[in-house]
Amino acid sequence: MLHIFSDAPSVADYVSSALVEKIRSRPEVVLGLATGGTMEPIYARFVDQARRQRLDVSRLTSFNLDEYVGLSADHPKSYSAYMRHHLFGHLGFDSSRLHLPDGLARDLERHSREYSEKLRRCGGIDLQLLGVGGNGHIGFNEPGTAFDSRCHVVRLSERTRVDNSRFFDGNAIVPASAITMGMCEIMEAREILLVATGESKARIVAEWYRHEVTEAIPFTVLKRHARAKIILDEAAASLLPDSVRGSPAVASA
Ligand code: GLP
Repeated sequence: MLHIFSDAPSVADYVSSALVEKIRSRPEVVLGLATGGTMEPIYARFVDQARRQRLDVSRLTSFNLDEYVGLSADHPKSYSAYMRHHLFGHLGFDSSRLHLPDGLARDLERHSREYSEKLRRCGGIDLQLLGVGGNGHIGFNEPGTAFDSRCHVVRLSERTRVDNSRFFDGNAIVPASAITMGMCEIMEAREILLVATGESKARIVAEWYRHEVTEAIPFTVLKRHARAKIILDEAAASLLPDSVRGSPAVASA
């Protein structure tokens, strides 16, 4: 399940091509989408590739993994704004098919249940894109999140808030909580591409490799998924054992 590429641009090429291929073969595909620095070069590459190939994206449906509580869709640091900037503002998406949790929902618990229900009615996710937090979170499912969790409100760990403060200007405060798809919605995706690039992910990738599946490292749950690929650049793979980094299966990816 490990695929190691030389650098982040090569990773972006691979993931973007996989997305293009998926949408071409199934224009009504349901995508699970992620945010974060890791996804930026991937979306940039995808926009470029889709434009050049005149890919029709108007029939696809998407569900984003998460959103900060307290930020409106117009807030420049919301994940909604991120998605418009990097992806949805380009190409010919049908905005009525693009879903993100509402960080301003009055009843957050109820909104979480409704988000999960809407996803279920759309048939679940065909292809889920995932990044990973430095502490092993996927979506915003922090260490310790139950594997049977569904879309819910989460209190962000201090580590995550510090990691994500780089996206917030100056002394602006990183929200304390978020709405995230749960571990169930993620694991129910028919196919998963988890991407980790850069040295800052090397430690958590090595831990993922070493550990059995444990709720203490949410990322490890992917070992139980039959169609999950872990896509790394060499920097993120740098703390894996040499035998893994050099194995022919990985080298040929
Ligand atoms: C964020 C997001 C995740 C993302 C992860 C990694 O907090 N909620 O969905 O995958 O952390 O972010 P980055 O790619 O910026 O390292």
